[in-house]
Amino acid sequence: MHQQAIRRPELLSKVMSADAAAELIKDGMTVGMSGFTRAGEAKAVPRALAIKALASPLKITLMTGASLGNDLDKQLTEAGVLARRMPFQVDNTLRKAINNGQVMFIDQHLSETVELLRNHQLKLPDIAVIEAVAITEEGHIVPTTSVGNSASFAVFAKQIIVEINTAHHPNLEGLHDIYIPTYRPTRTPLPLTQVDDRIGSSAIAIDPAKIVAIVYSEQPDSPSTILPPDAETRAIADHLIDFFENEVAEKRLGKNLAPLQAGIGSIANSVMNGLLNSSFEDLVMYSEVLQDSTFDLIDAGKMRFASASSITLSAECNARVFGNFENYKNKLVLRPQEISNHPEIVRRLGVIAVNTALEFDIYANVNSTHVCGTKMMNGIGGSGDFARNAHLSIFVTKSTAKNGAISSVVPFASHVDHNEHDVDILVTEMGLADLRGLAPRERAQLIISNCVHPDFQAALQDYFDRACQRGGHTPHILEEALSWHVRLEETGTMKKPG
Ligand code: COA
Repeated sequence: MHQQAIRRPELLSKVMSADAAAELIKDGMTVGMSGFTRAGEAKAVPRALAIKALASPLKITLMTGASLGNDLDKQLTEAGVLARRMPFQVDNTLRKAINNGQVMFIDQHLSETVELLRNHQLKLPDIAVIEAVAITEEGHIVPTTSVGNSASFAVFAKQIIVEINTAHHPNLEGLHDIYIPTYRPTRTPLPLTQVDDRIGSSAIAIDPAKIVAIVYSEQPDSPSTILPPDAETRAIADHLIDFFENEVAEKRLGKNLAPLQAGIGSIANSVMNGLLNSSFEDLVMYSEVLQDSTFDLIDAGKMRFASASSITLSAECNARVFGNFENYKNKLVLRPQEISNHPEIVRRLGVIAVNTALEFDIYANVNSTHVCGTKMMNGIGGSGDFARNAHLSIFVTKSTAKNGAISSVVPFASHVDHNEHDVDILVTEMGLADLRGLAPRERAQLIISNCVHPDFQAALQDYFDRACQRGGHTPHILEEALSWHVRLEETGTMKKPG
């Protein structure tokens, strides 16, 4: 097994325990770890680091691709290891530590982290910890179920720890397409014009002398936690499919639509699931994460090819896909996240971007990250990379949250991740608002008429009508604009008494 996975013999001497490898991570270091949407994260070394820190405290800056699985962010937070964390997370314990000011969280567009490193706007990682299925004859690293930022972390770090994870399918080798842009100001255009183009190499090219430790692990990725479609998410999908059908009828899209991007989470997965029973065919994805719905669409013969930076599946879907991986491999590619999310490519391909909002306001400013404007949920992730540059920028959400106490459509977004200029289409289970070419007052009326839950519709219409009496291009009653959020904090609901 060792011989097969480590194909450069001189590196066999670098095999050691996770505990020994964790000793290489010192207090104050910046560490770049693999892992993206709970897929392909290094597992044994971070766990050993958390255990070591309980006995001898240390703090690091931790950069990853995106979220880690296997409760690693929880364990690292509880052990007090995280001074700074970037660029995304989904863990409840870490979320609390971020919101109480204990961990400094830098919430970044996922395409940007390595660009900032490349241009020395962020401190380069001292050490990279990368999960792999193999190390090649050249000493290059073959990633597992995600590429994320691993390639650039390995290139920039002075030292590399490789975790060979034997739980992954060895046939993952050949799935990846590692391309690293050249330096500005002489950078050439990214040579990718079709979703299935391969423009790089199948492994991360590094100087093998930088590999200071190799650790074996056999812990699988965490299964995804997405919930199955419910009545509301099905209704959202139905509205969107009606809209796509109209775009085809109007000849703005073909039967194969355009390359699709779908954000993380249950709602986006459910929307993609809705395409199963649609008339569209020959679909392709240019996304950052592939969830169960991608493989359902491939199995149904609806999807031809999917490009992303990671694969995150439920246990059932994982068994189906990796039990029969040769059938899927030629329909997939995994890329570095700066390529999967690259604004240049998203604009060139004309991606249809479907992301989830926490809330949006009557003028289509979208909040994806901050509950009541202050408490971090997960982070902006790749939603901004896609939304700003997409052919169609779509945001979906249920019209209410927390058993109807919260309206997802509010007078004034309490935090803005995607502003009115970046949003084309808003969808809730109540309906869809096509905002293209509309002025703010027109947008507001359409959103209030089509997207708002009946419990909040009259109040929102009243706010808008009174705001219009005051005038303005984007009418507001500033002293009332955040009153719905204030009421929620004071009374537990956005509903007015009575
Ligand atoms: N106020 C407060 N809480 C809200 C809310 C609001 N307006 N809207 C939703 N929520 C809560 C839900 O109640 C739920 O809480 P729970 O976990 O305690 O049940 C939680 O937010 C998640 O919402 P849900 O409706 O289940 O949707 P989701 O799982 O699809 O997640 C986001 C929605 C916005 C949190 C998630 O999509 C996200 O983090 N997006 C930003 C990153 C991104 O878009 N990446 C895209 C590229 S991958």
